Amino acid sequence: MNEQKHWNKIAPTYNEEIFDVFKSDRNRILSRFFSKYRSRNKHALDFGCGNGKAFPYLAPRFKKLTAMDIADGLLTLAKNRLYKNVSCVQADLANPSVKLPRVDFVFCCNVIMLPEPEKNIAMLKNVNRALRRGGSAVIILPSMESYLFSAWRLIDWNKKEGTLPAQIDQDELSGFEVSKTDLLQGLLKINGVTTKHYLAEELQVIFPLAGLKIISLNKVEYDWNSEFSEPPKWMKAPYPWDWLVECRKA
Ligand SMILES: C[S@@+](CC[C@H](N)C(=O)[O-])C[C@H]1O[C@@H](n2cnc3c(N)ncnc32)[C@H](O)[C@@H]1O
Repeated sequence: MNEQKHWNKIAPTYNEEIFDVFKSDRNRILSRFFSKYRSRNKHALDFGCGNGKAFPYLAPRFKKLTAMDIADGLLTLAKNRLYKNVSCVQADLANPSVKLPRVDFVFCCNVIMLPEPEKNIAMLKNVNRALRRGGSAVIILPSMESYLFSAWRLIDWNKKEGTLPAQIDQDELSGFEVSKTDLLQGLLKINGVTTKHYLAEELQVIFPLAGLKIISLNKVEYDWNSEFSEPPKWMKAPYPWDWLVECRKA
């Protein structure tokens, strides 16, 4: 995947096209983690900052924020946010020798989800490389369990309304139209784009490979309208989620 080309193309319509984790976080769990790690003496890194949606949360809580992304089109929008303590840098964060700042805290929201597993490991290693000794990170990642659970919900909802699984419009399940080996690696489609989804147990294997020790594994929960355009009123908890991995340099 050419990430720079892909994300530059999306840049003009980013806010309409890309799911807003910050606005959709039902339990405001992100704010709790930002407050836990806040420090006006510390330097934070927004790893894959996009158009800077996290700046209003991070910039006031840290002395300095470095925001890095591969897409110059998105960085231009991020720079318009005009925070005095934020500096934006263009870089390929999957490049093992990319120049990184030394920081106390890394925030990374839905970036390490490329279709190439080795690039995702390279990015996790770069999170580790950027962290000072004692530094911590909060990393948001798509959940494979949530993806499967949403599909189960869709089938269950259809059954309740008298539609058998075999009669469901195939477009509704098009995210699963991938090879068997992609499916087994969590490489499923979101709006036609192959996106890496993680199992909880898989995170426990790969984070240590990147030199990151998991402190806690949490869910960022969203309403069902993040999955379905008109979910029925009875469709409540458990809600769909992304993983929020709190970790530190091992
Ligand atoms: C879904 S967006 C998330 C952006 C932002 N973290 C947010 O939550 O709004 C994914 C971001 O990852 C960036 N990205 C993808 N691959 C990258 C790479 N190899 N190096 C740096 N940034 C990358 C994209 O340019 C895009 O801004």
